[in-house]
Amino acid sequence: MKHQKLQISDDVSNQQLSKLLRASKAIAEAVDYATLLHTLLSIIVEQTGAKRVLILKPQRDSLILEARAHSASEGVLIEPVRCEANWDELPKSLINTAIQTQKLLYANIGQQSTPYDLDPYFQRFSGFTALCLPMIKQNKLIALFYMELNSKEESFSESYLSVLTFLATHAAAAIEAACLQRRIDEVSLQHRQLERALRLADKSLALGEKISRTGSWRWDLHKNTLVCSKEFCHIFGLDPQRRSILFTEFAACIHPDDKDAVLDQINHSIQTGTAINVEYRFLKADGSVLYLTGQGCPVFSTGKHIDYVGTVNDVTAQRAAENALRAAQEELARVSRITTVGQLSSSIAHEINQPLMSIVANAGAGLRWLHRPVPDLQQVSASLQAIATEGQRAGQVVESLRTLTKNTKVVLSVLDIHDVLKFSLSIARREMERRHVSLILNLDSKLSHIRGDMVQLQQVILNLVMNAIEAMSEVSNKSRELIISTFTEKDQVIFIKIEDTGPGISNQIKDHLFDAFYTTKKDGMGIGLAICHSIINMHGGKLSAAARQPVGSVFSFSIPIAKK
Ligand SMILES: Nc1ncnc2c1ncn2[C@@H]1O[C@H](COP(=O)(O)OP(=O)(O)O)[C@@H](O)[C@H]1O
Ligand SMILES: [Mg+2]
Repeated sequence: MKHQKLQISDDVSNQQLSKLLRASKAIAEAVDYATLLHTLLSIIVEQTGAKRVLILKPQRDSLILEARAHSASEGVLIEPVRCEANWDELPKSLINTAIQTQKLLYANIGQQSTPYDLDPYFQRFSGFTALCLPMIKQNKLIALFYMELNSKEESFSESYLSVLTFLATHAAAAIEAACLQRRIDEVSLQHRQLERALRLADKSLALGEKISRTGSWRWDLHKNTLVCSKEFCHIFGLDPQRRSILFTEFAACIHPDDKDAVLDQINHSIQTGTAINVEYRFLKADGSVLYLTGQGCPVFSTGKHIDYVGTVNDVTAQRAAENALRAAQEELARVSRITTVGQLSSSIAHEINQPLMSIVANAGAGLRWLHRPVPDLQQVSASLQAIATEGQRAGQVVESLRTLTKNTKVVLSVLDIHDVLKFSLSIARREMERRHVSLILNLDSKLSHIRGDMVQLQQVILNLVMNAIEAMSEVSNKSRELIISTFTEKDQVIFIKIEDTGPGISNQIKDHLFDAFYTTKKDGMGIGLAICHSIINMHGGKLSAAARQPVGSVFSFSIPIAKK
């Protein structure tokens, strides 16, 4: 066993020195780690004539075989490996001692007794010299060569060992530099890959935002600025290059009717650390109004929120479509009301005619009392009083009809449903007489105040009553009866039931009754029941239809009783 210091002995020949210089140059010129390993192995094979050379690199608790050279029929084969060293193919004791002592070690296996003779590898293979050459830089083991050479009787010469040690030192520096370069290359590759992935993710996000019309933003609470995505700028009509605006600038453009509520919700969300979901309008610089939905939540860092992040969704087109649909529905409901009023025109004329006739009669009577030789002023006054009352009654009917045919906004107020029923029946009364329908009223409910829209509820009752009258026009052999009753359930809900003795509802019709534009009538529009259904739903109630025993049908609806 020999230990050798790093120095080249005086007895190194010129030839050896020139070989060494060439080797040194080749090591310095290796362009990358793989080339360096190849160069090192070639040099060692050339210098030592070894039949097997390995470059091993300690790594944490393991030993990595980086590359190897071995004799083959076609000459020396050099190949990169990079895998964990297999101890079945290595003398563990020799290599571990070299690693621990960081010294060049060799042993003539089979010729002399050595401390490594019991090594399982040497038990299997012998008749060669095993040499372990650590590559050290600043007392740090960088890697080591393990080589097997043809046996030599005597020890290696000083000069031979010093050449090897010189090469190992040179190799250590080169390997460390190459490894460092390899790491730098790996990191920069990772960096480039990461950058590419990030760019791709950015692009996908932008595309997703564009397709869904969703912008995103991050609000720096300290600087009070919003950093916005491209789609955010697009939605709000901002310069896409700008990418950031002051929060106050943004808040100033929130629709004045929505601003306070939105800011309150945001403040509450910041204070409580909860997420919000708001709907608001925004005034663009060109004067147009955007309908937006926004989500946001504060982002916390070590218990203190630092930023606020969120998204904004442009739902302007959706809202416009909803508004158009609502307007169309309102118009349809109005047309349906006008149609009903049209159908009832003779009945209504009669309803107005009655007070008018009474006015004429009272006026005549009043005149007669006045033209008497001694005018009876008390009677004249009574006639005038009656004229005023009847005039008002006619005026009320006309006014109610006007609201029924006008497109008014929904007004919810507390109403007596019995009053609504009575008004609707008053304008349909004449029609019932004309069609020989007898009306039976059972307004038994003690509680009859509900919260609702008067015109809409009149429309529901008129539709149901007219349907009942129309259904019974087919009946000629039985009496035609319209039975209207009211009753409550647990003082919570009032039920209004409209029964007729018409042909009833077949199963086939029952499934389509509430479908819009479903009608079995020659001149029917088929929207009456669909409108009734949505009006009752809007009032928090339910409309249902059923066959009546023994004949006819029952339509009934419920509405919650108004709390006092
Ligand atoms: N009281 C009823 N008895 C029998 N069938 C009815 C009754 N009310 C409605 N229907 C059926 O429901 C259909 C839809 O009614 P509605 O929506 O009011 O439209 P329309 O009266 O214009 O036909 C009617 O065409 C009719 O077939
Ligand atoms: Mg109808």
